[in-house]
Amino acid sequence: MNKNTIYQNRRDVLAKKIFTKTGGGIAVISTAPEVSRNRDSQFPYRHDSDFYYLTGFEEPGATLVIQVVGNGKSYQLQSHLFCRPKDPERELWDGIRLGPEAAPETLGVDFAHSNRDLDQKLSALLAEQDAIYIRLAESAEADRRLRHWMKQVRSQVRSGINPPSEFHDVEACIHEMRLLKDAHEIGIMRRAAAISARAHIRALQLCKPGLLEYQLEAELLHEFRNSGAQSVAYNSIVASGANSCILHYRAGSNELRSGELCLIDAGCELDGYASDITRTFPVNGRFTSPQRALYDITLAAQEAAIEITKPGNTFMQPHEAALRVLTQGLLDEKLLSLSDLGSLDNAIETGAYRRFYMHRTSHWLGMDVHDVGSYHESNEDSNNTDKPWCILKSGMVITIEPGLYIRPGDDANEQFWNIGIRIEDDAVLNDSGCELISRGVPVKADEIEALMKNT
Ligand code: GLY
Ligand code: MN
Ligand code: MN
Repeated sequence: MNKNTIYQNRRDVLAKKIFTKTGGGIAVISTAPEVSRNRDSQFPYRHDSDFYYLTGFEEPGATLVIQVVGNGKSYQLQSHLFCRPKDPERELWDGIRLGPEAAPETLGVDFAHSNRDLDQKLSALLAEQDAIYIRLAESAEADRRLRHWMKQVRSQVRSGINPPSEFHDVEACIHEMRLLKDAHEIGIMRRAAAISARAHIRALQLCKPGLLEYQLEAELLHEFRNSGAQSVAYNSIVASGANSCILHYRAGSNELRSGELCLIDAGCELDGYASDITRTFPVNGRFTSPQRALYDITLAAQEAAIEITKPGNTFMQPHEAALRVLTQGLLDEKLLSLSDLGSLDNAIETGAYRRFYMHRTSHWLGMDVHDVGSYHESNEDSNNTDKPWCILKSGMVITIEPGLYIRPGDDANEQFWNIGIRIEDDAVLNDSGCELISRGVPVKADEIEALMKNT
């Protein structure tokens, strides 16, 4: 499919949602601002995911406006892109701009304008619209701009103009769409996961005692960029020894020591899509027996979750399946006391496992690593707490990432201290179950040991 058609189709789906909800209206979605790092240096620019989802346009300073005019039975959609005007002087320093002249042809939008005209043109577009779909309570700057546009429209009331009277959250509509990935998106996510898997293999093969955590991080980055990924999807975690029990530890300068584990949670971003993989391995290439025992429990928990990751089941079922295996493992290894807790069910119900497993097993994955979309079915009849968990569907993408983290303490046998294990893969829901797109890197303990031996 032509790339423009993908984004045009998405804009049309959004327009249809607006038509269904309010009979028409206008949606305004801006991309992300540039962010200063220090003095006159900027952080590398990253577009806003919602904006990119609807345009495929990566430049800063842009806003998409979608106007939906309905007649009760059908609707017409007109899209306007506001973008940076051409500017030879700035382009010499910062790079080529698309410019409004080329935007309709390149991006398939109906109209394009200079972003300098946004305030004036938007005020005109808002006149005679009842409903505005916009990001609500996003930032003081966005609120200020909205107030400005509304003031302009309201000032024309005596000329017969009716200003909008309904404000809706545009994100809710877009995030519902982003929850189900299309073939184009899954193709990119597959490639992103394959690159990340190669990066994990590189780190496994180069790992040896005496290296520092950031040196393994450098190997991950090498593979990401060398394979064409634009960025990391999130800050890489390279956590050795006790650091493996810190969930969002950054790669630091800790020395990798023989006898300890190293946990790497790292994934690249490719063409706007994230991957998210975790592997845990012994620094010297051989698991000790307590490490191996907990590793095998974690892997069995992941297998139980994978087994139940299929359309029709709820988002929570894989977590519950993993939790049972992890908690049984904690009882078997005497990290939880069966005589105190009485039963596996009670160990789960009382949350006794939480000392050693304190996060969920899954999250949505997509343009954002913790991707958007509700985790609950919309159920208008019930209050928030009653909303049932989301039913899994073909086209959704989730991570499956059980873990065990044993920090030193009187309540844990010393042989397990400072063992932190997480195993994380990326699963695409299909008609009959799920496909793991991140298994380019091995996961079984024996396979990891074999891979590390052959280096
Ligand atoms: N890498 C962050 C996470 O796994 O949720
Ligand atoms: Mn994750
Ligand atoms: Mn992760």
